[in-house]
Amino acid sequence: MEITILGIESSCDDTSAAVLRGTTLLSSVIASQEVHRKYGGVIPELASRAHQQNIVPVVDTALKEAGVTVDKIDAIAFTRGPGLLGSLLVGTSFAKGLSIAGNIPMVEVNHLHGHILSHFVDLPDRQLPHPDYPFLCLLVSGGHTQIVRVDSPFEMKIVGTTIDDAAGEALDKCAKVMGLPYPGGPVIDRLAKEGDPDAFHFAKPHVSGFDYSFSGLKTSFLYTLRDMMAENPDFIELNKCSLCASLLHTVVDILVDKLIRASKESGITDIAIGGGVSANSVLRNRIADEGRRRGWRTFIPELKFTTDNAAMIAVAGYYKYKHGELSSLDVAPVARYEEML
Ligand code: KG4
Ligand code: ZN
Repeated sequence: MEITILGIESSCDDTSAAVLRGTTLLSSVIASQEVHRKYGGVIPELASRAHQQNIVPVVDTALKEAGVTVDKIDAIAFTRGPGLLGSLLVGTSFAKGLSIAGNIPMVEVNHLHGHILSHFVDLPDRQLPHPDYPFLCLLVSGGHTQIVRVDSPFEMKIVGTTIDDAAGEALDKCAKVMGLPYPGGPVIDRLAKEGDPDAFHFAKPHVSGFDYSFSGLKTSFLYTLRDMMAENPDFIELNKCSLCASLLHTVVDILVDKLIRASKESGITDIAIGGGVSANSVLRNRIADEGRRRGWRTFIPELKFTTDNAAMIAVAGYYKYKHGELSSLDVAPVARYEEML
């Protein structure tokens, strides 16, 4: 029988647990933290406190929904980083406690590897399409924007990365100045559907190679708002949808432009997207269109695997466990990705 993995994810503001048998998802539970909404961003102290409250019921529910008892778990996969240290500490400490109590091996997972390997999770009723190695993954989340060349579950190379803001972060910040609720990305996605993407033009970056930059776009967006508001205080209210559409299309143009170039240079045509921003409808449609035009095989994740979830941590843990990569009890969480390379 295939092994059973419990995945735990607590890197930011979602407490999540999932159970996999082999690569098949048996259960996935996510407790999103509403407490941050009124502050317009994630407050680290409140996040770790909420994780502490959520972790036991979330894991318990995931096990119950999967019909699995603790003694049937072969390994506990947990997010070691990158993320908020206090949040990561809750998941890591819980994994250690359960590991000791149940004498179950632990496997640490890089959150970003999780997003990328989410394409290998299967559902009980259907196999999802898996990319072949090597493939390119455009990883777009609130904290990261990277093009990653994936040669195996263990060999990944960053082809390009943002030199300042992440794409999701830029969307969230622009949403905030428009007075939209946090996180802004999904709200911009929704409002953009009613707007004209050609209504406004914002600065596009000129960064060499495959790297990204979003801070110039953000500044250009802010200046447009400032200038237009000086003329008409109702400008944002009147143009909200077109501002969202123009901003979103610019972000997607920037993202996809470098991805096309990376595919051309590497000759790799299996193209995946992942991370919270890969939930975006404009990006998803563009990737599908480019795929048809360029003969790519495109891998666009199910919505439930785009934002943070423990199924992706469990599947990354599955591959590491099979590879014999276990963690010792003295493992500590790390806030920055660079510390994990
Ligand atoms: O991967 P994720 O859940 O957390 C991180 O690892 O950062 O990504 C969160 C980011 C946020 O910036 C959020 O605004 C963005 O993903 N996001 C979206 C959408 N859904 C989530 N951005 C654009 N369109 C969406 N539909
Ligand atoms: Zn994430």
